[in-house]
Amino acid sequence: MATLSIDKVTKAFGNTTVIPELSLTIEDGEFCVLVGPSGCGKSTLLRIIAGLEPISSGRILVDGVDMSDAEPPERGVAMVFQSYALYPHMDVGRNIGFGLKIARTPAAEILERVSRAAEKLRLGSYLKRKPRELSGGQRQRVAIGRAMTRKPKLFLLDEPLSNLDAALRVGMRVEIARLKAELASTMVYVTHDQVEAMTLADRIVVMNSGRIEQVGTPLELYHRPANLFVAGFIGSPAMNFLKGCVDRVEGNQVTVSLDIGLSLTMPVSKAPQAGVEVTVGIRPEHIVLSAEGQADAFVVKASVVELLGSDTFIHVREGEESLVIRDSGGRMARAGDRIAISLPPRACHLFDKTGQRIFDAAAATEPA
Ligand SMILES: Nc1ncnc2c1ncn2[C@@H]1O[C@H](COP(=O)(O)OP(=O)(O)OP(=O)(O)O)[C@@H](O)[C@H]1O
Ligand SMILES: [Mg+2]
Repeated sequence: MATLSIDKVTKAFGNTTVIPELSLTIEDGEFCVLVGPSGCGKSTLLRIIAGLEPISSGRILVDGVDMSDAEPPERGVAMVFQSYALYPHMDVGRNIGFGLKIARTPAAEILERVSRAAEKLRLGSYLKRKPRELSGGQRQRVAIGRAMTRKPKLFLLDEPLSNLDAALRVGMRVEIARLKAELASTMVYVTHDQVEAMTLADRIVVMNSGRIEQVGTPLELYHRPANLFVAGFIGSPAMNFLKGCVDRVEGNQVTVSLDIGLSLTMPVSKAPQAGVEVTVGIRPEHIVLSAEGQADAFVVKASVVELLGSDTFIHVREGEESLVIRDSGGRMARAGDRIAISLPPRACHLFDKTGQRIFDAAAATEPA
């Protein structure tokens, strides 16, 4: 286990700056998940931590020791790449033990550590097989096993499950959750998968163009996104955004009139001036399907309805705006149906013109 500090790190490839300046501390034993759009610098950051990519400036500290110039083997770091990179001519056992052999570990110890890793990863009966005789999930477990046997202080995983089909991903996600508990290593995990990020992370780091937008627990990011970027990135389907302007300000309460013709009153942390433009956000699952004629009901027409069995996604277009409503109640809506909805103010998020959150979480409880 180790504490990892990324201290004012910058990275440029030639004239292109990929990471402008990034600082982040990952605690001993923490499972930290990096998410962000393609090309935002997640893999580059992992490679920097591993020592596979030199930094342009700043420092990488492991347990307070400056490792910025240390060679990869000196850092106590193991990395699992998206492509499993197994040796095709070696069997599972030799693949798992390869790093130890290179490090001239005594044969008896290699045998013991390989069999312990194989047991943890449920590969015990496959030790004599070649990679081509394994399924994708088994191969990925071999790659993880090879990293594990090196007893890394820091475990880096770059989209380890992205090559697997949906069912295998679910299985491996559960395996990784189990490993997380058993290994107690400090882990940095990159993924594009919302569910992996939400279920595995102690903390999620949302990156955008080499910068950190927000760091927080999964539920902090879900309930209190700091800005429009995080609000739109965390959650699937994404949060709905509706344009509006501030009608009235009374103390810490603002009344916003939305372009779609609705009016909402909610508490804010920093009162904007009347007349300024704002964006209201609401998650698809927080829009309430209500009865037509109910006081706060707003009638819309469903344009597309997606029936997933467990959930129904109802897509709505209102002038310039579009909304997605998630209904778990098994309602049989059809395209063209008129439906009444309401937007409970307590479940809404409010962002100012610069995209910063101004909704006051302390003044309202989280939506149920
Ligand atoms: N060796 C390199 N030389 C030049 N540019 C590079 C190099 N490696 C990465 N980049 C650029 O750095 C940026 C960040 O790349 P990186 O691979 O870290 O993104 P990522 O967040 O991992 O994306 P993805 O989600 O697609 O894997 C990209 O714009 C990429 O083109
Ligand atoms: Mg990447």
